[in-house]
Amino acid sequence: MKMQESALSVLCDPITHESLELRNEVSAHGAPSQFLINPHSGKRFVLRDGIPVFLDEAAVSGLNRKYQKLYDRIAVGYDLAGELYAFFRRVNLRAMRGGYLDELEIKDGDRVLEVSVGTGLNIRYLPSSVEFYGLDLSWGMLQKCRRNLRKWRREASLFYGEAENLPFKDASFDVVFHFGGINFFNDKGRAIREMIRVTKPGTKLVISDETEKHVKGMYEKAPVVGKYFKQRSEVVSAPADLVPQEMLEIRLTEFREGSLYCLTFRKPAPPAAEQASGRPPQSSA
Ligand SMILES: C[S@@+](CC[C@H](N)C(=O)[O-])C[C@H]1O[C@@H](n2cnc3c(N)ncnc32)[C@H](O)[C@@H]1O
Repeated sequence: MKMQESALSVLCDPITHESLELRNEVSAHGAPSQFLINPHSGKRFVLRDGIPVFLDEAAVSGLNRKYQKLYDRIAVGYDLAGELYAFFRRVNLRAMRGGYLDELEIKDGDRVLEVSVGTGLNIRYLPSSVEFYGLDLSWGMLQKCRRNLRKWRREASLFYGEAENLPFKDASFDVVFHFGGINFFNDKGRAIREMIRVTKPGTKLVISDETEKHVKGMYEKAPVVGKYFKQRSEVVSAPADLVPQEMLEIRLTEFREGSLYCLTFRKPAPPAAEQASGRPPQSSA
């Protein structure tokens, strides 16, 4: 897998937000390779199997470390587990995800970001015309996603990083969404502000995850994963209180019999005068 060169225009240093350049080099053994560099600081970001690595693996801590381990461990069987669950519960996989997928406002050709892409299961339900970007904290899940993309003959740009420090420039995406991980992020508020920062003004954001009812009733009792959910310092609650006040149309709903929540809101569009002057929109995050 090669990094799609079109991705370069939206990439930035996840900490300083400075632009990056793609450089080629040849190893001592004569093997060509590519890396990204922040030309201001000289900081390099390697490409592993074509996936830019924005994660400082040694620095991953707390809940992010705990759930990175979990997802690395279950990545290989993740899709099968979902299929078996759907089979025995007699539910359609698309319908299961409808509570948030139906909220997405996607147009042909849109640049779409899924934060915490996992094995890429949502990609199949989006139009093939979109330019899809997926970021995740688990290398195991990204590897499985890469294989899925090949199997489904779909194109996407994948990134290894944390939701709390997105490696994308302000206002880069027409659609930004998240499903399934935010309950246990190290810093949910920061991740939400990052999603807002990289979203174009006027865009609706969609964030969805399991409710406490599901985490307690299902995950805590499940084999293999149960122990990751049992010892918790707080109950799960939808992070509606962490959405900045200036966001519009904030709405919190539950679906699948109260087992999942969906939080949506819209990033304000810049005032008309600013749009007419062609000035770049101000980041509200
Ligand atoms: C339940 S899976 C959902 C995957 C995918 N969104 C889906 O719908 O199937 C949760 C994902 O969140 C990722 N994740 C957890 N914490 C994260 C963080 N702080 N930043 C980015 N991804 C994270 C995990 O690695 C995992 O792939």
